[in-house]
Amino acid sequence: MKRVTKRLYTACVVCFLITGGWPVSTSAQPRDWENPAVLGFNKLPYHATLQLPSKWKECQEILSLDGQWLFHWSRNPEERPQDFYREDYDVSLWDKITVPGNWQLQGFGTPIYTNMTYPFQRNRPSVTSEPPRDWTAYENRNPVGSYVTFVEVTKEMLTKHLILHFGGVHSAFYVWVNGQKVGYSQNSMSPAEFDVTKYLREGKNKLAVEVYRWCDGSYLEDQDMWRLSGIFREVQLWVRPLVHIADYHVTAVPNADFSQAEVTADIAICNTSQKKVKNLNVTFNIDGQTIGDQLKSLSAGDTSHVKLTYLINHPKLWSAEKPNLYPFSVELNTSPNVGRQEGTEHFDYHLGVKRVECVGEVFKINGQNVKLRGVNRHDHHPRTGRYVDDATYEQDLRLMKQANINFLRTSHYPDREYLYELCDRWGIYVMDEANQESHGYGYANHEMGEDTAWETAHVDRAESLVKRDFNHPCVILWSLGNEGGVGPNIQAMYDAVCRLDSTRLPFYDCHPRYSALHDFGYPTPAVLKAEAEKETEKPLIAREYAHAMGNSMGNLQEYWDVIYNDSSIAGAAIWDWVDQGLNEELGMKNEESGSAVGMAVANSSFFTLHSSFLYGGDFGDKPNDRPFCINGLLAPDRTPHPHYYEVQHVYQPLQFVREAEGTIRIINHDCFTDVKEYDITYDTLTIDGERLLNVRACLKEDKPWAKKGFVVASEQFVLTPYNFVESSKLKVESSSFKNIIIAGNKLTSWVVDGQEMLLAPLEPYFWKPENDNQHAARFAERTAVWREVSDVTVNYTVINDRCIRVDVDYQPTGTDKPIMPKFGMRMRLPADMTNIEYYGRGPWENYPDRKRSAFLGRYQMPLSEFETEYIHPQDNGCRTDVRWLMIGQPNTPSMGEGRRRLLRIDGLQPLCIRAWDYGEEDLEGARHPGDIQRGRFVNLNIDLNVHGVGGVDTWGQRTLPQYTIDGNKPYHYAYILSWK
Ligand code: GAL
Ligand code: MG
Repeated sequence: MKRVTKRLYTACVVCFLITGGWPVSTSAQPRDWENPAVLGFNKLPYHATLQLPSKWKECQEILSLDGQWLFHWSRNPEERPQDFYREDYDVSLWDKITVPGNWQLQGFGTPIYTNMTYPFQRNRPSVTSEPPRDWTAYENRNPVGSYVTFVEVTKEMLTKHLILHFGGVHSAFYVWVNGQKVGYSQNSMSPAEFDVTKYLREGKNKLAVEVYRWCDGSYLEDQDMWRLSGIFREVQLWVRPLVHIADYHVTAVPNADFSQAEVTADIAICNTSQKKVKNLNVTFNIDGQTIGDQLKSLSAGDTSHVKLTYLINHPKLWSAEKPNLYPFSVELNTSPNVGRQEGTEHFDYHLGVKRVECVGEVFKINGQNVKLRGVNRHDHHPRTGRYVDDATYEQDLRLMKQANINFLRTSHYPDREYLYELCDRWGIYVMDEANQESHGYGYANHEMGEDTAWETAHVDRAESLVKRDFNHPCVILWSLGNEGGVGPNIQAMYDAVCRLDSTRLPFYDCHPRYSALHDFGYPTPAVLKAEAEKETEKPLIAREYAHAMGNSMGNLQEYWDVIYNDSSIAGAAIWDWVDQGLNEELGMKNEESGSAVGMAVANSSFFTLHSSFLYGGDFGDKPNDRPFCINGLLAPDRTPHPHYYEVQHVYQPLQFVREAEGTIRIINHDCFTDVKEYDITYDTLTIDGERLLNVRACLKEDKPWAKKGFVVASEQFVLTPYNFVESSKLKVESSSFKNIIIAGNKLTSWVVDGQEMLLAPLEPYFWKPENDNQHAARFAERTAVWREVSDVTVNYTVINDRCIRVDVDYQPTGTDKPIMPKFGMRMRLPADMTNIEYYGRGPWENYPDRKRSAFLGRYQMPLSEFETEYIHPQDNGCRTDVRWLMIGQPNTPSMGEGRRRLLRIDGLQPLCIRAWDYGEEDLEGARHPGDIQRGRFVNLNIDLNVHGVGGVDTWGQRTLPQYTIDGNKPYHYAYILSWK
């Protein structure tokens, strides 16, 4: 053992001489991870993904090192096992950890969810300055994860060039092989590669990786997300010929009229052997053709480029609608040479022919004014955190395509490579974003944008982005980051992006100077319109809009009416795709494994939850931004929220407009798809005398993301309206009823078949708990007077002892009343009345400003489905345009039909109805669904109208005025209650 180490030590000294040496650190020198000038040591240059990610598993050159590694967690750098990388250091008793993964989600340390506030004391470049005492980082001042695994290497492998590849490590790490220091890297979301050829030996090799939770790079990674650490993407050992393809960039540029496309493959070949090699054959295979060239010679240690071009006549263009791909391969054949450098390399990829441009203030793809129907997405999984597996990527993309989303912003960093391949193949335009955000210094800050010490760190993030994803046809925009600085450092990023790629456009949110498009985030529909009219030089985009937090996404159609009407608006992307909640058992696991890992659980309520997800603060993490990470169209487990369906509807490419009697006009918002490519079908149905026409456009053939027959677009029209007055013709049958008590405006008792049905009176009630948007807009405060009703008269007309007509009249006395949360009534029924059937909009929850996707129909469901369980409890479950609703005991076989308790409500105009198995007071203040006390009664709200959910942002914007209820206007509505 000793002898081997010695030999390797000698080898290492040689290597230092060659590479210029590892800097000798002295105490005066800043630590690498608190020094913005140090981005890495011995890192290989960034390059394009060489092999299609879906083929990694079968790629002979790739040896996966993923799996169970040995692990040790320390709460700060001082306490870390300093020499664990040594071969004689015993790690056999260490814990196990899954790689890839985040250590906080495997029982070590604390996940922190913070938006803008840095999770450590802001004092750049230090990440270990003293924070407030109650912060997680106070005790855990930059935790360190020490990882060890062992790699088997054969004699044959040692004749090759060996590269250690890390797909993503948060946030900084050192690597050792067999006790020898190999390198260091920062820039969490991009690959880091090291040449380990000279460190490996035949047999078992010790690979040691030391990961720091934070480093100076964390100042550029202040994205609004869970702050998680560790080796969270794949680790691979690439076993490559000594002479190999170092990189290749392929462009496919169409000519002016798209009749031809010029394909250029720029292939870099490097010779890592000790001698000059000759006659290297480089080929590019496309379209059944082989284009080749020969590199006459390549000296040892050199890299040379071969440029091959090919002309495609009448190219099939790539777009999100028609993702036409040309598969190709690049090949290097070194066979004329004999010896270790010999071998053939072969990589498969694909290209797409497309043009992205701004023509004046119009954004175009392939010459057409494409509209970007977008969404933002974080790489998030409720169990594995920042590591998202292939199946979840496929599920995400399938759900996006099904929702008619055609544009994805990889907020706010590059995702795993496979996601881009899926976007190439299935058709999604991508804004690929650099891992650059310094929001903790403020939006468009000068500190980070101008401090020259941080220039290379900025540029590194732009280069790593473009260089890795260059060959993906799906990428249309390179984003320099999000909510970062402005100044020369950003200019340098911009210049780097433009230098590296002229076929895609640069984008930045903080200043149009660095952007081909002008960004305006979170406008109201009216502001979006005004802003687009004001901006006359560049296309406008809302890189983020329609903040989908909690029960939200109102007024989406209003946005799209504006966007479709102004050719200078490129589109908009919803914030965001998936709720960043974590599985509740992650909290448990950490708790069970004891606090040896520094796990503090301040709030333990989540232990009792069922089907719940954790958010900021649930791990005792500080600082935190509570549920502000729960903003998705989907729950963390990818269950669509009701508003997902509204997006699907508003984003549909076809719009159906009813014109003259019998004619439906179809407006096609797509650019490359003909209406004829869909099966257009319709049917009419009659429900209780109301005639409805449902029209739809379906897929004619299977797609990777949906089967033939899938409904891409649909609309509903009322042909013969519902007759609400019919039920009002009831005649009072008698005038004395002993089973009904009316006291003023309230119906306080109603005994049916000998049992009291009102667990709380039927009474006028204008209050409703807030949703997240409303909370941010101080809704409860502004409308507080409506916790008490006023100026209302309820008239009860008893028809018979099982039937009452209710008339509600509101005549405001003053003129200064605030808007009403809702106008209507409520009552509480026996707890077992949990079966609902209704005729109205559904089946999913809908509100006045979010009901276009919910068609009129007759729906039946249990109360648990009528409610929507939001991760952060809030107002929910409304159904609008309800004609009638029946609520009763479930129909169990033991219960004869006649004995079922069933209440029917018939509106004399459309109603809004919400039903919960808890009260308003139970909902208000609950932190998680499990905090809500349920099951004592059924709480039924029967309203004429409800305040809309809102759909702009969750930091102050109010629901659009047309979806609010003016408290200074008179209202009247009526309905009939009858027990069956
Ligand atoms: C945006 C930001 C996102 C997120 C969102 C609020 O301004 O870019 O990262 O913080 O606000 O959920
Ligand atoms: Mg931010």
